[in-house]
Amino acid sequence: KQRLRTFARGVLVTVLAAGGYIVWRSYDQRHPGEQLPHDPTLPTVVVLGNGWASTAFLKELDNQGYNVVVISPRNYFLFTPLLPSVTVGTLAARSILEPTRFLTRHMKRKTEVYEGEVYEVDPHKKTVRFVDNSEIKGEVSGTEIAYDYLVYAVGAENQTFGIKGVKEHACFLKEVWDAEKIRSRIMDSIESANFAGQTQEEIDRLLSFVVVGGGPTGVEYAGELHDFLMEDLNNWYPELTDRIKITLIEALPNVLPMFSKQLIDYTMSTFKENKIDIKTKTMVKEVQEKKIIAQNENKELVEYPYGLLVWATGNTARPVTRDLMNRIPESQNSRRGLLVDEHMRLVGADGVFALGDCTATNYAPTAQVAAQQGRYLARVFQKLHKKEQLLHELETAKQGGAEPAKLDSLANAVIRASNIAPFNYSHQGSLAYIGSDKAIADLPMMQGNLAAAGFATYYFWRSAYISQLFSLRNRVLVGADWLKTKVLGRDVSRA
Ligand code: FAD
Ligand code: NAI
Repeated sequence: KQRLRTFARGVLVTVLAAGGYIVWRSYDQRHPGEQLPHDPTLPTVVVLGNGWASTAFLKELDNQGYNVVVISPRNYFLFTPLLPSVTVGTLAARSILEPTRFLTRHMKRKTEVYEGEVYEVDPHKKTVRFVDNSEIKGEVSGTEIAYDYLVYAVGAENQTFGIKGVKEHACFLKEVWDAEKIRSRIMDSIESANFAGQTQEEIDRLLSFVVVGGGPTGVEYAGELHDFLMEDLNNWYPELTDRIKITLIEALPNVLPMFSKQLIDYTMSTFKENKIDIKTKTMVKEVQEKKIIAQNENKELVEYPYGLLVWATGNTARPVTRDLMNRIPESQNSRRGLLVDEHMRLVGADGVFALGDCTATNYAPTAQVAAQQGRYLARVFQKLHKKEQLLHELETAKQGGAEPAKLDSLANAVIRASNIAPFNYSHQGSLAYIGSDKAIADLPMMQGNLAAAGFATYYFWRSAYISQLFSLRNRVLVGADWLKTKVLGRDVSRA
């Protein structure tokens, strides 16, 4: 009895402490304090984008020494690793978004956030031009701004390789509106298949869900779609679910080429068990309104009718990035993206740093890389600010006729502050969800690599992502959505 009482007391204290922490953190988050005002004597740092790289940069930056301006067409950060879960309603879209102002209002100096799309960066004049591309515009909907430093992190757009019909007929999976569009179209295909008097052939086409690209985006989406089918659609459309077909088309011999061989095999066999049809060595050549034309390994042309097509074949540079490259062609000649040096400085431009998916480096275009680059750059800015302060101190000391020893020590401090280490990426491992409560993980260990897969890895995947979410608010929302999906199931309304 005594032991039980002690245990119960322990549980109560833990629950109260956790509750108190949540209340305190949410109060603190919702009540930002006073900020230092804009200071015209300080350098202006213009940050383009509020994705992984820029958000990590802003989160880490002590901006007392800078006026910071953020420009992005969306006013929130999107936690992309959980985006495939939004396509079927496992998570609500808003649970994985974080308004950028929730972050910038907590920065030390006032930071401007403009919702706008940058269409021109002039690295010679050091200016950026941007427009308001949203539905509602004011009298001013386009302007130009000057920078001392530019943090260029606009990400990449979807690669289509110029294949005919992709842009017109396929859905992509990059932004939150893409995931919502997919969710609505899944239900639209099912309801159209269910329409009174629908022909048998048309039912099969409408219930054919095709994914092109066997990278992690395509695989995770196929896994989520399978869960939706088994856990929810099965109950509400019992006469149709047997006819639903998920097909994943991949040009290479394997899906997930960045994972180790045993995890690729595990994914392929899990998909087989889950009746997800993987067509490897099959290259899509053309997309028509109701069917795909692909070339198989025997070089034959095959057709895949579809009701919904999701296209996930990787990244390519955005038009604004290509425009920037064309302005400094002698230094920027990579087709993959922007060339940067080991300090993330854009080659051929003064005061410009480029981060994340818009760059062409030896690293994979992942959130992990982008976030580490963002944090690294914030530390670089700290050092630059420190150096400026020390130079100012040195000048004042010289003018005041300070002792030689004092001048020496200040000059040495300036040298130390100028010595900035290059960016060094530390790989924390790769994770992917593959459906039916299974995930795969390639984790670097001291002596090589640990490959893990299955249910336990799925819980590791969940805990890894919930801890990486940028705010307590997102953690609470995502946790609640997971619980809601388990208990109440997913919604099948086409809202
Ligand atoms: P982004 O995060 O794409 O941010 C780009 C920013 O620039 C956005 O805010 C955008 O609005 C803004 N922007 C765009 N155009 C303009 C413009 N003209 N002017 C101004 N701003 C502009 N990586 C992982 O490591 N692990 C994962 O599990 C993982 N899962 C993923 C799942 C999905 C579905 C997707 C699509 C990607 C996933 N990734 C994952 C990859 C990861 O999301 C990217 O590598 C990462 O987002 C790159 O960060 P970034 O800051 O370079 O670009
Ligand atoms: P990807 O570049 O990783 O994979 C695209 C796949 O499409 C390739 O395997 C390619 O062979 C295939 N393909 C290209 N053209 C084709 C065609 N015409 N027909 C058939 N197949 C074709 O792209 P993805 O999955 O969009 O990922 C982009 C980046 O985001 C990657 O760096 C990835 O690592 C990262 N990411 C990471 C995730 C994770 O770690 N869990 C999840 C999602 C994305």
